[in-house]
Amino acid sequence: MGQHWYDNAVIYSVDVETYADSDSDGVGDFRGLIGRLDYLYRLGVTCLWLAPIHPSPRRDGGYDVADFYGVDPRLGTLGDFAELLHEARNRGIKVIIDLVVNHTSDEHPWFVDAISSPDSRYRDWYVWTDSEPADRRQGMVFPGEQSETWTYHRKARAWYYHRFYDFQPDLNLANPDVRTEVKKIIGFWLQLGVAGFRMDAVPFIIEQTEPGNSDSPKDFPFLTELRAYASWRRGDALLLAEANVAVDEIVRYFGDEGGSGNRINMLFDFLLNDSMVLALARRRAEPLIMALTESPRLPDGGQWATFLRNHDEIDLSRLTAEQREEVFAEFGPDENMRLYDRGIRRRLAPMLGGDRRRLELAYSLQFSMRGTPVLRYGEEIGMGDDLALPGRNAIRTPMQWSDKTNGGFSAADPVRPVIKNGGYGYQKVNVTAQRHDPTSLLSWFERMIRTLRESPEVGGGTCTAIDDAALPPAVLVHRADGPSGTMLFLHNLDDAPVRVDLGRIAADADHPNQVFGDQPYEDKLDLADLELTGFGYRWIRIRRDPAG
Ligand code: NOJ
Repeated sequence: MGQHWYDNAVIYSVDVETYADSDSDGVGDFRGLIGRLDYLYRLGVTCLWLAPIHPSPRRDGGYDVADFYGVDPRLGTLGDFAELLHEARNRGIKVIIDLVVNHTSDEHPWFVDAISSPDSRYRDWYVWTDSEPADRRQGMVFPGEQSETWTYHRKARAWYYHRFYDFQPDLNLANPDVRTEVKKIIGFWLQLGVAGFRMDAVPFIIEQTEPGNSDSPKDFPFLTELRAYASWRRGDALLLAEANVAVDEIVRYFGDEGGSGNRINMLFDFLLNDSMVLALARRRAEPLIMALTESPRLPDGGQWATFLRNHDEIDLSRLTAEQREEVFAEFGPDENMRLYDRGIRRRLAPMLGGDRRRLELAYSLQFSMRGTPVLRYGEEIGMGDDLALPGRNAIRTPMQWSDKTNGGFSAADPVRPVIKNGGYGYQKVNVTAQRHDPTSLLSWFERMIRTLRESPEVGGGTCTAIDDAALPPAVLVHRADGPSGTMLFLHNLDDAPVRVDLGRIAADADHPNQVFGDQPYEDKLDLADLELTGFGYRWIRIRRDPAG
């Protein structure tokens, strides 16, 4: 196994609100989630990431927090949350929560006080300026839904800064009191028993905002402080950062120039996400070979988090404009499928035309990469999206448990409509039906994750893409090496069958055998002549060191 619990974890991203409703009020809750822990255990999930659970007006899916020390009463009580931690721990499942400290809701008592008077003790907890800043209309994260980043507040008689929506004023993290408070928040939830945090908007947390300067300097040492604090409170605490930044900036998020990993310990790999989607769209391996080759070496203890879908649009901003157009043409042909000019607001199953072979291929690719896989709820059964819902809500519909009322999510009118119609409706796509079907996507995920558990070199070991002109351009070959052994992976991104010669590439093979794949293939495996069907994939163990 890897050195840290998170090296070989399988992280599952849940919105408690839309997962399972235990008290029939239409809103998912902690008790509902507790009732589904056995399902998650069976799937092979080892860590839950809960989207914001705090009291909030929920104008941005809870990312507009009104109290960092409480839980949204619609989701349950703090007591229910502690029960969830306990029940999860009994099943060996850790829980991390979103830490959203770049901003608060404008209904947070700190902001309400801050606007009441220039002398408020909370005034300097936010970022103000007296005159209209030159960069007022720059740096919007939600273009189309947001028209500025500095807004004049009539009551406060000053301009406040907000990187996101205008109801999410940025906290002033240069203020030592705010820094202390953030640590207190971290300490509070670690004390309750969470295993760490998914840190929201990290590049903006460390942005030292200067009015008029749209490229303000960054305060990396704050990450060092947070890591030190979190580790003092809980040695193995995870800080999983959301930072969609350029490749050459990434290493600084993990540690200082000295090369020590003293900042965040995991980072979502946005470049790999975009490259997987581009490779799927082109049916070519090259974008993945490039991404794996270009990706920086992380300091000791640093780990990638991989994902195909998350709760937001697929953000294609790591691609060039032409590459983005290729992906749009393939996976987001209608304007209504796109968002903020940079992304796609669809789930993976409909993006891939419901083609089961391609879905398996895509998830086999993700889970065989270096890093820790993060899986969005519902992807394991191939849920669809509802493009009639606004913005990112298209992919935030309730979990589909059965063919009963509201897909078994709730007996009452659900907080967001359950997908009812078409090929992705709950009558067709649901957990109950798939549990009883050994050939279902859900059963496939269970088997795939079990195989991962037997192969700690995958995810925790090195990951090398083989760049060899003799390989068919549609086939990605990569290998994972670790103390426990070596695994070779073949993924055919196109639908034409191919034969692949890995004799030379895998010269160090010792009794190779296939441990997972889209089909069993040949009885007698010959690395110099491997068969691969259209959209086929094979995991071939070439070395094993049981002591590793
Ligand atoms: C990133 C989150 O993923 C997104 O859902 C949210 O809207 C913004 N940060 C603002 O908190």
